[in-house]
Amino acid sequence: MSQEVADIIKELEGLVPELVSRLERISSQDEIESLRIDILGRKGKLATAMAMLGKVPAKDKPLLGKLGNKVKEELHTIFERAVEEQEERREEEYIRSFDPTLPPRYRYHGSLHLITSTINKITTIFKDLGYAVISGPEVETEYYNFEALNIPKHHPARDMQDTFFLRDGVVLRTHTSPVQVRTMQNHTPPLAAIVPGKVYRKDSDNTHTPMFHQIEGFVVDKGINFSHLRGTIMHLLQKLFGEHVIVRFRPSFFPFTEPSAEVDISCFGCSAGDKEPCRICGGSRWIEVLGCGMIAPEVFRSVEYDTEVYSGFAFGIGVERIAMLLHRISDLRLFYENDMRFLTQFASIEE
Ligand code: PHE
Repeated sequence: MSQEVADIIKELEGLVPELVSRLERISSQDEIESLRIDILGRKGKLATAMAMLGKVPAKDKPLLGKLGNKVKEELHTIFERAVEEQEERREEEYIRSFDPTLPPRYRYHGSLHLITSTINKITTIFKDLGYAVISGPEVETEYYNFEALNIPKHHPARDMQDTFFLRDGVVLRTHTSPVQVRTMQNHTPPLAAIVPGKVYRKDSDNTHTPMFHQIEGFVVDKGINFSHLRGTIMHLLQKLFGEHVIVRFRPSFFPFTEPSAEVDISCFGCSAGDKEPCRICGGSRWIEVLGCGMIAPEVFRSVEYDTEVYSGFAFGIGVERIAMLLHRISDLRLFYENDMRFLTQFASIEE
């Protein structure tokens, strides 16, 4: 056997032990990969040894070729096992570092405030009836808040509303009714709109907050009468409280509607045999939910509508009141204390 052939055999036979010992010293996937290139790559050690085959006598070639292939296969097998072992080690590492007793990471995404979702609910009912949804200023002039609504200066109704007076005839609006006037000034009938928004009154106890929400609604056209108002309110209350809600229209007074009514629903909190007065209705068996009426001629005159041609109805709903009734909430102030324990209870209510 020539010296050359012996050298090649030695070189080839040395590759497996070399790989095994180098693998022992490395751990990362990258290191395994560069080792593979060094040994099995196109210019790697195996390829270099096999290239020397060209120089040996033809009779020695089969033997060396066979040895080369055997070594190559062995090297491949060792590499495959090394990669597998590497993966197993990584998995074990992950399982070891995973602590199933840790608390989960909660992700609170936030949700609509109950007042907002109540407004949305009522708004949707009216949108389905074809009403427009509009808004108006919260800082309002006395003219729109009072005069144009037939509440003259020095009229006791101004005190009734516990107004926050700013300066120079400017107030925080005490109701959403001024938007009736603003809308009528800029549009001609037919009109059908609702106005959700904030209103302000100087009042604070467990049934009053200085800021609260109303939804004004009004319709103006030829031939609008009280039965349209009644049908609309019945539809609203049945949608909100269920088909079997019992509704009472009670004569009342608002300077801007004539005739006027307050609307009550029958109390669901008490029953005939109760000894204590019910906490929801105070024993009266009725719960007031809104004010309404036929728009007064004085209001139409202030926007120069012909009262011989047009008529209309209007109503004002207290949003907090509706939310309290729908969810049996007993203290109004809970809405504005922003206690997450309260607010998140309504997080899944449809929005
Ligand atoms: N604006 C009245 C209030 O705040 C409610 C109302 C609106 C009554 C429209 C009649 C018509 O109390």
